[in-house]
Amino acid sequence: MAAVVSTSLNGGAAISSHLTQFSGLRKSFLKLESSNSNSTQSFFQNIDSHLRLASANKGCRSVVTMAGSGKFFVGGNWKCNGTKDSISKLVSDLNSATLESDVDVVVAPPFVYIDQVNNSLSGRIEIAAQNSWTGKGGAFTGEISVEQLKDIGCKWVILGHSERRHVIGEDDQFIGKKAAYALSEGLGVIACIGELLEEREAGKTFDVCFKQMKAYAGKFRHTVSPSPPVDAVPSWDKIVIAYEPVWAIGTGKVATPEQAQEVHVALRDWLSKNVSAEVASKTRIIYGGSVNGGNCAELAKQEDIDGFLVGGASLKGPEFATIINSVTSKKVAA
Ligand code: PGA
Repeated sequence: MAAVVSTSLNGGAAISSHLTQFSGLRKSFLKLESSNSNSTQSFFQNIDSHLRLASANKGCRSVVTMAGSGKFFVGGNWKCNGTKDSISKLVSDLNSATLESDVDVVVAPPFVYIDQVNNSLSGRIEIAAQNSWTGKGGAFTGEISVEQLKDIGCKWVILGHSERRHVIGEDDQFIGKKAAYALSEGLGVIACIGELLEEREAGKTFDVCFKQMKAYAGKFRHTVSPSPPVDAVPSWDKIVIAYEPVWAIGTGKVATPEQAQEVHVALRDWLSKNVSAEVASKTRIIYGGSVNGGNCAELAKQEDIDGFLVGGASLKGPEFATIINSVTSKKVAA
């Protein structure tokens, strides 16, 4: 039996310690299923009940196989790329693309081009910023406030991206604060999480992801005495979780559909245990990291993959359209 790893999750310690056995390079569910441990069994009961919940959801979405009940969601993260000219070409490619209707589509241009994109892009696609400040604007040189983003037409903001965490040095607490503020002001948040390669290899994938989730959720919640904790935001409808393993971002090494699905199931289970079954079902959990026109269909078929966050491939209009339209691979014969 694998070593029990400590966790800071409240009320989820037993589950979390067993989830670590699935982390990274775990062999298979079968090995664990043969364990006699009661707590391992109870973990599997939890997963089983999640899967039943997922199957039940299929009833109300008769043609699309999705564990979550939210709409498929595809975001394009343009990062620090583009010029006025290249962005104008990308926008015109996106405007002329045929996109499946049952997908929420968002693009995140660099701040300085948001206005250009907002003035030229079809209303079919919403605009996200790639960062926002932790509170109201003011004397914060170089920062951009949520109010300014809303003023210029943004509906979403990407927060907690691995490049902000690992290149710029943002920590969980800072990211949680930004997310809570953006949500409190009505901006949608694409909340990114994901493990480094060494964390995966050390079997810490779930611990890392849950810790990052907790930072978001903790900031989303407050305690009203003597009532149980309640959500600080009116609803989780405006939060999309983006699982992006750091080793897969910009490397061409996409996670296998099974690797991604495994983490998405665990994240949905975490939401169910730590927020509510309803939020677990409704919240979109999208995958990011080297998604392209060639691998999106297989990934999209996974029940718990509710869409994608796309970097490099979102800079090419036709390929991004292919990724958006991969929702069709979720559709099964009625
Ligand atoms: P990638 O980036 O698709 O280029 O790997 C994904 C991301 O950073 O969101």
